[in-house]
Amino acid sequence: MTVSSAPGKVYLFGEHAVVYGEPAVPCAIERRARVDVEARADDHVRVRAADLSLDGFTVEYTGSTDGRPDVDVPRPLVDAAMGYVDAAVDQARDAADAPDAGFDIVVESDIPLGAGLGSSAAVVVAGIDAATRELGHELAPEELADRAFRAEYEVQDGQASRADTFCSAMGGAVRVEGDDCRAIETPSLPFVVGFDGGAGDTGELVAGVRRLREEYEFAADTVESIGDIVRRGEELLRAADPDAPPTEELLVELGRLMDFDHGLLEALGVSSRSLDAMVWAARDAGAHGAKLTGAGGGGCIVALDSTPGSRTALRFTPGCEDAFQAELATEGVRVGDAGDAKGDGPAGAAR
Ligand code: PMV
Repeated sequence: MTVSSAPGKVYLFGEHAVVYGEPAVPCAIERRARVDVEARADDHVRVRAADLSLDGFTVEYTGSTDGRPDVDVPRPLVDAAMGYVDAAVDQARDAADAPDAGFDIVVESDIPLGAGLGSSAAVVVAGIDAATRELGHELAPEELADRAFRAEYEVQDGQASRADTFCSAMGGAVRVEGDDCRAIETPSLPFVVGFDGGAGDTGELVAGVRRLREEYEFAADTVESIGDIVRRGEELLRAADPDAPPTEELLVELGRLMDFDHGLLEALGVSSRSLDAMVWAARDAGAHGAKLTGAGGGGCIVALDSTPGSRTALRFTPGCEDAFQAELATEGVRVGDAGDAKGDGPAGAAR
């Protein structure tokens, strides 16, 4: 049996603008998806997903997701989860040149599904890594990231950027601009995540921004301004000492840029009442800055706060279902699961 785990991520800056060629800086967080893979003697694939934000389910199928048996959870959730696992299996079979390999797979995750924290990317990255290792192959992180991107691209009908999968494979902070993906050495950042228990429709939100951008020059300028924020934030990160704790000055300036970024995302119509309420709760509690993370519309916000203040305030904020501190995950995909930091324990939704 082989076990791999991979982290989720928050966008420090740049979601949506990254779709139009601007850079983005996602950061891996210590919330992981863990995938156990055991090779089978036949070519069947059996998947058990016991710890996602959906009811556990078990399915067995032969090689592809077609013709699966009845399961007792809503079909779209199963289809989504199975699509990612299936695509990861295809990539692992291809990488190991073992088209008929079969597996028993168990997926567990501490990352809320579809909420802007890169849950699917973490499952795909950990799944490909564990399955290829189980077949006696080891992929370099860059190849793993590329294969995971291709798996997500296929499942999401071409709507995937490289941000989530590259960040999950490499860990730490990364910079993504089109196909150009690089790691950024950065001090550990004190993230706090608030989760409203929901999820936005990424396709619809991206389409909404696209329409605004086409209709109004000032909306196009807004997207470019987000790019400017990312470039400024990246400069700050690169100038910081990665081996020392972040300075107060760095946190203050990053926080200001996060607040600015959230304001522009709000103007582009991708925030929501619950996301805004959580952003303001974190700011009022003394966070250096706060913004939505991911596509928006619902899901998660990320704040910068070294104290427990924002997390406590978020837990008392109507509309916030869960809040947790999540350090920057310096390690991306890794073998085994030992030493997983699971933040301070979810209050509900991710369990
Ligand atoms: O919600 P997520 O984590 O899937 O992020 C979506 C980010 C977008 O920039 C809105 C879309 C993308 O593919 O980059």
